[in-house]
Amino acid sequence: MSNQVKRIAVTGAAGQICYSLLFRIANGDVFGPDQPVALQLLDLPQAQNAVRGVVMELEDCAFPLLRDVTITDDPKTAFRDIDAGFFVGSRPRSKGMERRDLLSANAEIFRVQGQALNEAAKRDAKVIVVGNPANTNAMILAANAPDFPTANVTAMVRLDHNRALTQLAKKAGVKVDEIKKFVVWGNHSPTMFADWTHAEVNGRKLPEIIGDDSWYRETLIPEVARRGTAIIEARGASSAASAANAAIDHMHDWIHGSNGDWVSMAVSSDGSYGIPEGLMAGVPVICKDGSYERVTGVPVDGFAREMLDRTVGELTEEREAVSALL
Ligand code: NAD
Ligand code: LMR
Repeated sequence: MSNQVKRIAVTGAAGQICYSLLFRIANGDVFGPDQPVALQLLDLPQAQNAVRGVVMELEDCAFPLLRDVTITDDPKTAFRDIDAGFFVGSRPRSKGMERRDLLSANAEIFRVQGQALNEAAKRDAKVIVVGNPANTNAMILAANAPDFPTANVTAMVRLDHNRALTQLAKKAGVKVDEIKKFVVWGNHSPTMFADWTHAEVNGRKLPEIIGDDSWYRETLIPEVARRGTAIIEARGASSAASAANAAIDHMHDWIHGSNGDWVSMAVSSDGSYGIPEGLMAGVPVICKDGSYERVTGVPVDGFAREMLDRTVGELTEEREAVSALL
């Protein structure tokens, strides 16, 4: 990898997730230990002072790879010439809300930022949307950046993927990184589908190793889908360090590759698997040489079809709700 500085925009820089994310990026966890980085931090005017405080702390870590930091409330300044963008800034939900309840509060943010991305970013910049509802926000962002490649706009379902891996590994008595070909399909919402059908451990089918289909359907799938809510109930605030970690995993694998294994990324649908074109839906991808390829031809059985249709139905409803912004 070239040693020219990589420019990385991060929105919502004064928030909870960024309090973990920024330090990991500056440490080299995304682009690697030999790649200098510059951070371009965006937040609202009233949060600028808080961002300055975070930047003082970044300075006090003396990260050798961190070459420059910009603080701004102007999206175009934040996205100027970026190689990567983490779109975190937006309102989180609180107890009693679903992520889709944030649609009206957050959708406009992504319309404005899409236009700025279109004007200012490098055409090969890699973008991840974390702010909820992440899938539909990513669709709004891409729709408002017509000259920016839609394939480079993605949304995060990696937290759900990681959550499921740990529960599966515990149940099977294996290590998380021994599980291959696992995927979370669809929306980052209660309808997401954590699909173990094709998962393997050292060439053996994971469903056979665990041998408990009712645990899969009645415990694993709903617990992964409700994990964000469980964390809000326990912590009084939504997940932060684990969300930052998942964003790092997503971007790291996109840049460096996923070693031939499947990872879950929400990408703009090409119509495969019965997912209408243009919806940002979690699918299995393999990352290699700085890009991702959808895994094609995965068999979808009756139960999986029902689960996929349910989450795709919800994404379609969300798209209708924001049609004025697309
Ligand atoms: P937070 O409230 O701690 O921080 C959000 C930050 O965004 C604040 O500093 C706020 O000022 C800023 N912001 C708001 N509007 C902005 C705008 N227009 N431009 C730039 N910055 C803006 O929230 P958080 O806990 O860091 O969570 C951020 C988002 O990430 C929420 O929407 C949350 O639901 C979502 N999230 C997603 C996942 C996922 O898996 N996709 C996981 C965890 C959290
Ligand atoms: C999560 O899954 O932890 C985040 O999306 C935050 C939330 O609102 O659940």
